[in-house]
Order: sequence, then structure tokens, then C-alpha cells
Amino acid sequence: MPDLSGKIAIVTGCASGIGAATVRRLRADGAEVLGTDINAEKGAALCEETGATFAVQDVADTATWPQIVAQAVERWGRLDILVNNAGTVSSLSIEDVTDAAWDRIYDINIKGTMAGCRAAIAAMKDNPGGSSGAIVNIASTSAIAALPTDVAYCSSKGAVRVLSKSIAVHCAQKGYNIRCNTVIPGATDTDILAQAENLMPGLKAAVAQTSPLKRLADPAETAAAIAFLASDECPYMTGAEMLVDGAMMAVHPGF
Ligand SMILES: NC(=O)c1ccc[n+]([C@@H]2O[C@H](COP(=O)([O-])OP(=O)(O)OC[C@H]3O[C@@H](n4cnc5c(N)ncnc54)[C@H](O)[C@@H]3O)[C@@H](O)[C@H]2O)c1
Repeated sequence: MPDLSGKIAIVTGCASGIGAATVRRLRADGAEVLGTDINAEKGAALCEETGATFAVQDVADTATWPQIVAQAVERWGRLDILVNNAGTVSSLSIEDVTDAAWDRIYDINIKGTMAGCRAAIAAMKDNPGGSSGAIVNIASTSAIAALPTDVAYCSSKGAVRVLSKSIAVHCAQKGYNIRCNTVIPGATDTDILAQAENLMPGLKAAVAQTSPLKRLADPAETAAAIAFLASDECPYMTGAEMLVDGAMMAVHPGF
């Protein structure tokens, strides 16, 4: 397990699924964690259970970001890790999507992620002892192989992949010791998939069957990859992408 003792982390979307598993994992690895979520009740409960600190936040409200980062820095004196995990889906194809639905998905999935990175880098540059930090953004295999049923989700997650690379190169060229990487989860057994199952009964079992591993991912398995990229174990990894998809994107169609 990577040693994250002494590290200070912010994890968004901490109330459920991959975010909750990430808070659990980073705490187990020794980090102090500020978890944020729009769901105050579930987020606060998860943080209390894990010994993390909770703040209510809508990541799409970019004005909240400097305050959230300041809260971590005032409390612990530095910021080492940001995990931009909060995300949401719609069920709207290119023919059905409205401007309002498109904007909301983009505000959460990509603008919120950008604003988190911007605020975190401003703090990480000034960490005691010199610039340092690790940002992990969460995309999706839907940014590689698209869902016709959710045009805004797929395209916003595609934007997350390139956002991370732009940030990684910027920080490297500026000489900041700040890495930025993307984790690309496949079908993971969380509330997002439960929502989709409600719309399309049988979806979870069908998706699991298409995976070479014949099962969905457990959120803890995704959190393990996030913890690795957030740690000092991989100093030469920046601008990189880590698939956690049970080889779903590796298999040739029909096999
Ligand atoms: N579950 C999957 O199959 C899967 C696959 C690929 C990518 N992902 C991505 O993983 C991330 C986590 O999703 P999950 O599967 O754990 O889903 P989830 O629904 O279990 O968790 C998402 C969390 O984000 C929070 N959230 C939503 N909008 C928010 C906002 N505006 N501000 C703050 N918090 C907000 C929710 O309250 C919830 O706690 C998302 O970015 C998602 O797109 C999930």
C-alpha cells in the first residue's frame, strides 16, 4: 500500500461510490482528507465514519473552490492531493439533449474539475518546502467508447482526459513538482450504475457479461489506482491515464 502519511488530500463526490471508497483508502494509507459532496447528509456520515473532515460543496460552483482549498490549507498547512471524482450522468442522446442538461453535466464534470485543478495548483505551488502535489481526475471508459444514450457525459469525460494532459504539461514546463493524471474507470458497482439500471433493467448484468472479467468493478479497486497515482510511488507519471476496466477496452468486439 502506498504510504500517504502526512499527506493532505481533497476528494470530491465523497458521499458514495468511488469517492467514498477513495476517502476510505486514502485514510487507510495515512492521509488527512477533506471530503466534499453536494449530498451533505451522506457525505458527513462517510467522513465521520472514516475520520475525514467534510464540507458541503457543489463542484460546479467555481466560487467554492478557493474556499475549499483554503479550508484544507488553514487546517493542515498544505495541500498534497486533489481527487476530482464528483460526476454525474444524464440519459439524453444528441437528439434529446437540452442546453440546460448539457450545461449542468459540463459544469459538474469538466468545469468543476478545471476549477478544482486551478485552485489546487495555486496552493500546491506554495507548499512549505517548495511546489509539490498530485492531482487525479476521474474520466470514464465512455470517453473512449461512447454511449449513444448520453452525449453530454461521454463528451465531458473526453474533455477531462485532455484537461489532465494540458495541466500536466503546463506544470512540468513551469517547473512545478505537481503531477496530473487521469483514472479511467470501467463499469463500477455504484449509484451511477444503479440509476442506469433503473432506466434499463438488466443493464448491470449485461455490462458485467461483456467484461472479460465477467463482473463489475468494486469501487475499492478503482480507489487503489487513485491512491497509487496520488502517492510518491510514481514520480515520473504525469499526463498519464490508468484504465481500471477489467480489460473492457482491450477486448476485440465479438470475443
Ligand atoms: N460507476 C461507474 O461505472 C463509473 C464508470 C466510469 C466513471 N465513473 C466516474 O466516477 C466518478 C464517481 O462516480 P460513482 O460511480 O462513484 O457515482 P456515485 O453516484 O456513487 O457518486 C457520485 C458522487 O458525486 C456527488 N456529486 C454529484 N454531483 C455533484 C456536485 N455537483 N458537486 C459535488 N458532488 C457531486 C454525488 O452526490 C455522489 O456522492 C464520476 O466522475 C463518474 O463519472 C463511474
